Amino acid sequence: MSRSLYRSRLKAALEEEAARFHTSIYEDLRIFEEDIDGTEAHDIMLHEVGIIPREALRRIIQALEELRAEWREGRIEVSPEYEDVHEYIESRVIEKIGIEAGGMMHTGRSRNDQVMVDVRMRVRRELLEVAEELLGLLETLLRRGEEHAETVMMLYTHGQHAQVGTLGHYLLSYFDALQRDLERILECYRRVNQNPLGAGPIGGTSIPIDRQRTTELLGFDEIVENSIDATSSRDWAIEVAAVSAILMSTLSRLASDLILWSMREYGYIELADEYSTSSSIMPQKKNPSTLELVRGRTSEVYSALEELLAMVKGVPTGYYQDLQGTKPPLWRCLDVVKGSLRIMNGAISTMTVKAERMRRVAEESYTYAVDLAEALVVEAGLPFREAYRIVAHIVRSLKGRSLRELTIEELEAAAREILGKSMGVRRTLIEEVTDPYRSLERRASRGSPRPEETRRMIAERWRILGEARGDFEKLRGRLREAEERLRKAVEQYLKG
Ligand code: ARG
Repeated sequence: MSRSLYRSRLKAALEEEAARFHTSIYEDLRIFEEDIDGTEAHDIMLHEVGIIPREALRRIIQALEELRAEWREGRIEVSPEYEDVHEYIESRVIEKIGIEAGGMMHTGRSRNDQVMVDVRMRVRRELLEVAEELLGLLETLLRRGEEHAETVMMLYTHGQHAQVGTLGHYLLSYFDALQRDLERILECYRRVNQNPLGAGPIGGTSIPIDRQRTTELLGFDEIVENSIDATSSRDWAIEVAAVSAILMSTLSRLASDLILWSMREYGYIELADEYSTSSSIMPQKKNPSTLELVRGRTSEVYSALEELLAMVKGVPTGYYQDLQGTKPPLWRCLDVVKGSLRIMNGAISTMTVKAERMRRVAEESYTYAVDLAEALVVEAGLPFREAYRIVAHIVRSLKGRSLRELTIEELEAAAREILGKSMGVRRTLIEEVTDPYRSLERRASRGSPRPEETRRMIAERWRILGEARGDFEKLRGRLREAEERLRKAVEQYLKG
């Protein structure tokens, strides 16, 4: 005979294959403790409004705490005969304390609001873990950025030498992008941390529940008010995947650069052994494969987003079993994001920067063409387009010689050819514009890689990071207080 709690109306148990197909018990293990917490808060509230007697509450809580201990000790064994963790826990409580008390625990609640409470509680906690990892990476970017504010490095567009910049300025660009990701995550957290409990199956309950009380006990910021919305909507879960996908798109591009720069042809950086692998056959190999996985696994997060969007689009209002698909993509998404952030932080903190090589590439390049053209605007008062034509003419005629080898006579000759007259520029001009460091110094525009400007930006970003950390600590503090509050209430009722 089936031990199922939910099949009193039905004569037969689910067919074995159907049960395996149907159950969410395995993906539910991640919300095992959240399910216990949610039930404890709900039942404490039911006691306070006079629905569950004190002794019954004590026994329910005791059974739930026994299950928590079994879970923490790794003694829980589940199987597909349970539709989900909600059925498993209620069955086990009834097994332990009998139906008289145990049969009260699910009063005034449906699995439809219950599962949303559990998942929201789990996700909010993991979002804070994501935020914490992200704060760590942001700090690393600032630290290494500061270290390399003067480390000359080529900047590329279309994969071609574009302008000379610095590694520090480059790292700061990722600080800024990832700091926006952090904002998005904390904004999303606000919408996750809302309480659907008390919505019942879809239309509320006649039991005189107190939704404000469970909201408090579980540390939610507010109630998801409309009972249909509370049980039907998955937009908040989609948003979690969306902000994760955007974050991964940033990490993936950063990973791509670092992978390229590890190539011998670039030789700009070398990852620490701790973040590299080798080959089974080629003994010389050192592969930046951890970063390749950050990039590769980005697609898992993108597909989690697509999976969630596709899941909801045709489901009519109200709970349908389709919505059981909310959890697996969310779990995958959070795992990849947290893992990638940790890897990225570790790889960047420990990588070796080959500043000499970076500088050499910068010196040998033609990127000073822009600087030279701009210098002609400033020093000889030429319209930019004419200066551009002169320099383009020169680059074409250099035939492999570097711009630094250009003589002032050749420059004036080019001017005469294009403008019909000399410009009379200073003799030292070429040397000045083709020195990478001086080239940077000349770029005083706001947000440019000029080291002084970079240092100004870094100082400002330390302040931004401090504020973000403060906001994060506040959220985490509020959550810990709520957990403490529930713990205290539970202990008090355990005493009877
Ligand atoms: N196991 C379901 C899920 O994960 C939750 C319960 C709702 N099921 C139901 N038949 N009303 O979404």
